[in-house]
Parts: sequence; C-alpha cells; structure tokens
Amino acid sequence: MIVVAGPASPMLSAKIAELLNAKLITPSFKTFPDGESYIRIDTPKALEGETVIIVNTMYPDQNRRVIELLLATSIARDYGCDKLYTVIPYMAYARQDKRFLEGEAISLKVLAEIIGKVSDKVITVDLHSPETISFFGKNALNVTAMNDIGNFLSENYSFKNPLVVGPDQGALDYAKTVADILGAEYSYCEKIRDRYTGEITMSIKDIDVKNRDVIIVDDIISTGGTVALASTNLKKIGAASIIACCTHALMVGEAEHKIISSGVSEILSTDTIECKYTRISVAKTIASEIRKL
Ligand code: R5P
Repeated sequence: MIVVAGPASPMLSAKIAELLNAKLITPSFKTFPDGESYIRIDTPKALEGETVIIVNTMYPDQNRRVIELLLATSIARDYGCDKLYTVIPYMAYARQDKRFLEGEAISLKVLAEIIGKVSDKVITVDLHSPETISFFGKNALNVTAMNDIGNFLSENYSFKNPLVVGPDQGALDYAKTVADILGAEYSYCEKIRDRYTGEITMSIKDIDVKNRDVIIVDDIISTGGTVALASTNLKKIGAASIIACCTHALMVGEAEHKIISSGVSEILSTDTIECKYTRISVAKTIASEIRKL
C-alpha cells in the first residue's frame, strides 16, 4: 500500500501513511509561469501492482488542486497500480451541488463524475451535503470529522453547562454528534441566505443560552459571516463563552477578525485544510475506513 501525498495535504498524508503502515511518496510539483500545474513522482515504478491512495485536499486554490489530483491519478494508472483510492479531505465546489438559479452549472456533479470515473474508491470528509456523495458514483464514501472534533473537545476542555449549536439547520446533525460525545444539549440557528445579494439574516431557535459555554459547530467556515452572525446573536441572549469549531477552515479574507470580534474566543479546525486553525486530525477516521476496504 502506498500513500501519495498531494501538495495540499502533506501532513495529513503522512499521518494516514503511518497509521496504515504504508509507504509515503511525496511527488515534486510546481506551477509554470503561465499558471499550469506540474507533478512528478520520481519513483513511479514503485506504484506497479500496489493499492495507491492519493490524498489531496482542494484548498487553497481549488482549481489547481483539482488538476494536481487528476495528474497524480493518471501517473498511478499509467504505472500500473492495482487499486486507486482518492482521498479528498475538503471537496471544493461542494456548495454548488444543485441548480439554485436557472442556467447555473451543478459544479460538484461535474467534478465528482470525473473523479469518480478515475478512482476505485473516493473518500471525502464532511461533504457539504452528505447525500451528494452519490455524484461520485457507487464507490464513494463520505466520513464525518465530528467524532474527532467531539473527542478532542471532551479530552481538552471542561465546559460549564455546554450547548452545541449549528449556525444553521444544515449543521444540526453535526451539532448532535458533538453534543452526544460531550453529553451536552444541542440546537441550531435559523439562517436565510438571499441567493441574489448573498445577504444573510438569522434568528436563534428557542433555546436558553444564558451563562452557558457555547460551541458553534459547522462543516465550513469561509468568510466567517455565518459563525459571526450566530455568535453575535448568542452573545446578545447571554452566552457566557463561545468557541467555533469546523471541519474545513477556508477562512477567507477578514474571517478571523469577523469571528473574533463577534465574541468567539477560539477557532478550531481539522487538518482537512492544513492551516493555523488546525488542532484536530481526521487521519484516524480516514485510515480506519481505508482498512475496511
Ligand atoms: C453553509 O450552509 C455552510 O454550512 C457554512 O455555514 C457556510 O459555507 C459558511 O460560509 P461563511 O463562513 O462564508 O458564512
């Protein structure tokens, strides 16, 4: 078994390889002056007859990561790998998983169909809408990082009367998973996003947050607007403290400033995107799924 460390996931790849007792190959890569991507495995014959696991997240620079991933899969196939598993810790374009407005492309479907075709198995983590894993075809699996997040919180924090909150209804299952591990209550905020202007309005569900330690949980933090809006409202109704946890920390632009100034004391994320907020690893979750294949 060989793990190929995609350029965007060096540390996670190394952890997965270690857990699986697999050989780790780190390709060389570069971007040409005109923007094209290049990737090379200098020991390609090692791939022959092997189960090859390619790990490459799709952020930052989603488009480049897609190409790197496809180029890496082609090397594995050309050099005669036996099985090819593609691990995409953060699947880009996953929020465009339907035609919200007439005339749009279903971006996730376009990419998923291509990646599904070249892989014997695809593994994603907290795909924005878990059911859209079917776009990749039959041999695809979406795992959740929420158990890793819940376990990390339970081992490293002691909360006072904790409440786990999804900043929107879509995050309710995530909140429940984390809350169950912490033995805490959970709920969600109601969010309405205007598809034309992007403006978000939010109202808090009927929950008592007064003097409680609140843990906001979501799949993605992008601009930070959703978490900041939730946090501002939770503070208004008396939350004692708020931390924000997510699987994928895109943290675009002023996201950190927006979130911290809304009353969040800490932002934690997993290594699906390796960044300064990464405190939790999904390596064990991914490796244990691979062991079952
Ligand atoms: C949306 O439904 C997602 O689960 C996240 O809440 C959203 O993508 C976060 O985006 P932003 O940080 O830009 O508000």
